[in-house]
This record gives sequence, C-alpha cells and structure tokens, in this order.
Amino acid sequence: MSKENRAAILITMGSVLFTAAFLYFFYVWPEKIGPEQPIPFSHNVHSGIKEIQCQYCHPYVAYSNFPGIPPVEKCLHCHNHIIANHPWIQKEHGYFNRQEPTPWVKVNVVAEHVFFNHQRHINSQVACEECHGEVKHLQRLPEKQWRMGQCLECHHRKKASVDCWLTCHN
Ligand code: HEC
Ligand code: HEC
Ligand code: HEC
Ligand code: HEC
Repeated sequence: MSKENRAAILITMGSVLFTAAFLYFFYVWPEKIGPEQPIPFSHNVHSGIKEIQCQYCHPYVAYSNFPGIPPVEKCLHCHNHIIANHPWIQKEHGYFNRQEPTPWVKVNVVAEHVFFNHQRHINSQVACEECHGEVKHLQRLPEKQWRMGQCLECHHRKKASVDCWLTCHN
C-alpha cells in the first residue's frame, strides 16, 4: 500500500469517526438530560444565576429522610412578584388553585430495600455536588439509578463504614 493510500484511508477513517462522534453528541447526548418536567424548572437559573441556596427549597434535607421538593406555595412566594404573568408561572397558579401537587418526575432512584438518609452525609460535610453533580449549572436534572457500587465506592474512599452495609439493607 502506498503512503498516499494509507494517508487517505486514515483521513477517511478519521472523518467517519469524527462525524459519528459529532452525531452522537448532537442527537443522543441531549436525551440524557433527564425527563421533561411539568414546568421547565431550571436549577441553573435559580441556584446558578440567582444564587438561591439549595436548602431554601430543600429544607428538610439535613434532618429528614425526605428532603422535599418545594410546594407550589414556595414558588409563588417569589413568583407572585417575579415574572408573574409568565405562562409557566400561570401553570403553577393552576396547580395551586386546584390544590394539586405539581407532578414533578422523580429522577433519583434507589432500590426499595436500601436505606438511604441524607442526614449522616450532610453532617459529615459531604457536599450535595458529590452525589448530585453540578446541579446549579443544569437546566434539567438527569435520571440516576443508584447502584450499590456507587455507595460503596465513596464509602471506601472516605473511609466511611462499609460493614454498615448490613444495616443499609432492611
Ligand atoms: C427565592 C425566589 C424564587 C423562588 C422560591 C422560585 N423562583 Fe423561579 N425564578 C426566580 C427568579 C429571580 C427568576 C428569574 C426571573 C427573570 O428571568 O427575570 C426565576 C425564573 C423562573 C422561571 C422562568 C424560566 C427560566 O428558566 O428562566 C420559571 C419557570 C420558574 N422560575 C419557576 C419556579 C418554580 C416552579 C419554583 C418553585 C419550585 C420557583 N420558580 C421558585 C426566583 C424564584
Ligand atoms: C427555587 C427552588 C430550588 C432551589 C434553590 C434548588 N432546587 Fe433542587 N429542586 C427544585 C424543584 C422544583 C425540583 C423538582 C424538579 C426537578 O427535578 O427539576 C428539584 C429537584 C432536585 C433534585 C432531584 C430530586 C429527584 O427527583 O430525585 C435534586 C437532587 C436537587 N433538586 C438538588 C438541588 C441542589 C443540590 C440545589 C442547590 C445547588 C438545589 N436543588 C436548589 C427546586 C429547587
Ligand atoms: C451521599 C450522597 C448524597 C448527598 C451528599 C446528597 N444527596 Fe440528595 N439524594 C441522594 C440519593 C441517593 C437520593 C435518592 C434517595 C431517595 O430518593 O430516597 C437523593 C435524593 C434527593 C432529592 C429528592 C428527594 C425526593 O423526595 O424525591 C433531593 C431534593 C435531594 N436529594 C437534594 C439534596 C441536597 C439539596 C443535598 C445537599 C444539601 C443533597 N441532596 C446531598 C444522595 C445524596
Ligand atoms: C460521596 C460519598 C458518599 C456516597 C456516594 C454515599 N455515602 Fe453514605 N456515607 C458517606 C460518609 C462520609 C458517611 C459518614 C460516616 C460517618 O458519619 O462516620 C456515610 C454514612 C452512611 C451511613 C451511616 C453509616 C453508619 O455508620 O451509621 C449510611 C447508612 C449510608 N452512608 C448509606 C449510603 C447509601 C445507601 C448510599 C448510596 C445510595 C451512600 N451512603 C452513598 C459518604 C457517601
């Protein structure tokens, strides 16, 4: 095979790979940003740009098994004044008037037999980001099915109890 041929083949292969990678990131990647929510709530806008503290909206995270998604009253507390006529905020008013909870789609899932509680983690200074990623730069949160390996990997790394494993399963 001549040198030119080889170069031509390499270039062709290179551009095929490049195109494939481009198409993958362009079309497949965005689907991994997670499910569509009833209201396109953006953590990037609220936590990133407006710098609202995580715990303002998820206040129970440090002392309850249920960190809690904010009820619509809390949104309206601000949004009665901020962009009040925005169609998405009008949709929030709809839920409020009908006394319906906003049907947010849950994205973090742990197997039912696993006992997980935020309290110990937050008390040991594990940052939200270590488990949830850079939430404050995300428009839409990705789905995450928690696997035991992910819990154990960090427990090993941080020298947290791993024999607790028996107590994590009930
Ligand atoms: C502490 C005040 C505050 C709270 C609480 C709050 N927001 Fe906002 N929100 C803002 C501000 C500030 C903006 C930016 C408005 C602008 O662009 O001028 C905003 C923007 C938005 C937008 C506009 C779309 C976008 O992404 O730019 C939507 C939709 C929204 N909020 C929904 C909600 C929902 C749903 C809740 C409750 C879960 C909520 N907000 C709670 C302050 C708040
Ligand atoms: C203005 C209110 C507000 C603030 C501030 C806020 N969140 Fe949220 N958060 C929400 C709402 C509403 C949802 C449900 C919709 C969604 O998943 O986007 C949510 C969902 C989540 C979820 C996914 C819950 C699930 O379904 O498993 C995580 C994790 C989370 N927030 C972490 C954070 C972190 C970390 C911060 C700080 C960087 C933060 N949030 C700041 C309102 C807020
Ligand atoms: C050690 C890892 C870890 C840390 C640190 C952590 N989380 Fe979580 N978070 C999880 C797991 C695992 C779940 C899913 C568990 C469940 O739904 O019971 C979850 C679920 C959530 C949910 C959804 C709860 C619901 O009711 O659907 C919110 C909101 C949330 N986290 C917010 C936060 C915030 C805010 C912080 C920081 C103050 C934080 N988390 C820190 C692992 C973590
Ligand atoms: C990013 C790191 C990290 C991840 C991920 C993580 N943990 Fe932890 N976990 C810790 C640390 C640090 C402690 C604190 C140990 C202490 O207080 O001495 C802890 C403590 C615990 C405890 C209390 C242990 C005891 O001795 O009482 C339980 C239970 C637990 N984690 C379960 C889980 C489960 C279940 C998951 C996965 C869904 C998980 N953890 C994911 C870091 C993590």
